[in-house]
Amino acid sequence: MSFDFSGRVAVVTGAGGGLGRCHALALAERGCAVVINDLGGDVRGEGGSESAAQAVVREITDKGGKAMAHGGNVTSFEDMQDMVEKTVSEFGRLDILVNNAGILRDKTFAKMDMADFRTVVDVHLMGSVYATKAALPVMQEQEYGRIIVTTSSSGMYGNFGQSNYGAAKAALSGFMNTMKLETAKFGIKVNALLPVAATRMTESIIPEEMLALLKPELVSPAVLFMADETAPTGEIIAAGAGTFSRSVVVETNSVYLGDAPTPEMIRDSWDKISDMSTATPLNSGSDHTQKVMKAVFEAKQK
Ligand code: NAI
Repeated sequence: MSFDFSGRVAVVTGAGGGLGRCHALALAERGCAVVINDLGGDVRGEGGSESAAQAVVREITDKGGKAMAHGGNVTSFEDMQDMVEKTVSEFGRLDILVNNAGILRDKTFAKMDMADFRTVVDVHLMGSVYATKAALPVMQEQEYGRIIVTTSSSGMYGNFGQSNYGAAKAALSGFMNTMKLETAKFGIKVNALLPVAATRMTESIIPEEMLALLKPELVSPAVLFMADETAPTGEIIAAGAGTFSRSVVVETNSVYLGDAPTPEMIRDSWDKISDMSTATPLNSGSDHTQKVMKAVFEAKQK
């Protein structure tokens, strides 16, 4: 059965351009009413006007879709609360939150201003936290919700010059890991998108011949998959240039080194400790503790 978002309502932050615009258009095309949030600033997050959001609203309404602009700044909890209130008063509910807004302030950590570190964390991490905090009561009341955060290869794997951005993006996958546990009983699913696409954010970093293949609209099907009723929860889904993959944090077997472990014992057992053939994903922190205890009990019984 094809995905149909008729009757559903989504908020997409930072949807005035780039990936957010494509996600919003794809949702609207399948019948979703969409709130287009965007501050309209430059790639560093400076300046701003609501016209970027309004242009995307026009693109949707011209095709007969339902959309509304919201010029709120994701770094303001009050703005995010106002955005959710206006969404519910205009469209009656809020089913899907796509946390997409983002900026860059790249520099090596040695040269980076602490203000630029904090601003990037504020927009990516706190922006997603504020929008999610504002949307959560509505989703809990409905006993239905789909929350998507946008992480990045910088967050999962690192990227030169992006310590601020990578830290904020990794924090989002940590935020998702707990949110998936806390919201499960309310019918809410929380997932993370790991995109790669040609936008103003990447045009100076990625070579031109690659940019031609990295059309942002090729990422949006992953967002619709995570926004649908059938969505999984707690997944990190990478999407780019028409490819899709699953990114997972895994842990190797817990190797018990006795009651008096030494650093030399870790060195001498490193092949065994780091043996990726034993690696498995874990669903929660308590699963990790259980795994540790199980290894200790098993070793002591031998
Ligand atoms: P973009 O710069 O084209 O879009 C970001 C949008 O967020 C802009 O329209 C901007 O006005 C808006 N925005 C920025 N600060 C805001 C704020 N405080 N409040 C409200 N709106 C704000 O960049 P792109 O590439 O579309 O990025 C979208 C998301 O995808 C970001 O979270 C980015 O970090 C992430 N991402 C993008 C990748 C790519 O390859 N393009 C790779 C990995 C992650």
